[in-house]
Amino acid sequence: MRHAPLKTNEIGHSRKAAMTTYQVSDSDFDVLRGKTVLITGGVQGIGLATVELAHRKGANVVLGDWKEREGVELSQRLKERILFHKCDVSKWDDVVDLFEAGIAKFGIIHTVICNAGINSREFDEDKIDSKTGRLQAPNMNVLDVNLYGVVYAVKCALHYFGKWPQTKCQIVITGSVGSFIDGYDMHLYMASKTGVLGLMRGLRTWVVEKNMTINLVAPWATDTAMLRQEMRDPWGDLPLNQTSDIARALLLPAVCPEVNGKSFWVGGGEIVELEDKLHESQPIWLGKKMSENLDKGQRQIVRNWEKVILSYKNGGQGRPRSRL
Ligand SMILES: NC(=O)c1ccc[n+]([C@@H]2O[C@H](COP(=O)([O-])OP(=O)(O)OC[C@H]3O[C@@H](n4cnc5c(N)ncnc54)[C@H](O)[C@@H]3O)[C@@H](O)[C@H]2O)c1
Repeated sequence: MRHAPLKTNEIGHSRKAAMTTYQVSDSDFDVLRGKTVLITGGVQGIGLATVELAHRKGANVVLGDWKEREGVELSQRLKERILFHKCDVSKWDDVVDLFEAGIAKFGIIHTVICNAGINSREFDEDKIDSKTGRLQAPNMNVLDVNLYGVVYAVKCALHYFGKWPQTKCQIVITGSVGSFIDGYDMHLYMASKTGVLGLMRGLRTWVVEKNMTINLVAPWATDTAMLRQEMRDPWGDLPLNQTSDIARALLLPAVCPEVNGKSFWVGGGEIVELEDKLHESQPIWLGKKMSENLDKGQRQIVRNWEKVILSYKNGGQGRPRSRL
């Protein structure tokens, strides 16, 4: 159930006693030539570095961002093999339009990178309606962009990838170390980034039979506009990612298409895979017996689910209500 087993692959990865690291060299990205990569949130920061790497390696790039002027300037600078489409990822129609525009220009999209994100501290504040004295609902824009925006792009990827089932395609989500650890004053941000981790885990078994993969990249502190001064000030000599480090991790599933269901933590430029080790340590946090039962239960659920899907495909009684 966990996810497709990792085969030994051409991208160097070494399993030390305590972790699995991935090394990707610049030439590994040569395979992107002629492929089409769609990315959201790519006019600056991590997304921009990803656009530049994919484009430099010969990929077609479909770029969706709500910053129109910057997007137009970037596409003018890159000149060819780039389509900028103004898109607010929190709006469903914008996301569908982005995919439609990309397909109209380049045909098959091979890789979708859901990267657009924002942060806000507004959840800290109590906003009181001056007329009624009632506490107002919190601003949910962080969830709209970081969670709903990713759900929309993933839904589109699943739908459009399904139109070319013979082509292996990849979905990559920019999560955060906040998908795994505490954050001090980033409450809704943490909820959104944990949410997209759940989305990846919820889909990773399901996408296999559809000739797709889904993976998550979890950057630790990275030198972009999003890294606030309160984070930078105490950082000292701790390792800081450059945007190019995250770009390599985001494009890793595109150059290593057998990799599925992974979370790539990136710290100080080093890429460490977490999911396999989390699963290996399951007996530590659940105990041996409970862990064995959990794995058995998960396998049984998947086998049953496969039977339900098969019966559906063979003209059974309609689509199963639940996939598990
Ligand atoms: N910088 C870090 O330390 C760090 C750490 C972990 C995760 N991340 C994640 O990396 C991703 C990229 O962030 P970044 O650090 O490059 O920040 P950034 O602010 O430099 O870039 C964010 C990009 O997303 C775009 N965007 C924001 N809202 C959008 C919307 N509604 N529709 C379309 N585009 C939108 C912005 O215009 C911008 O191009 C985000 O998902 C962020 O949460 C960043």
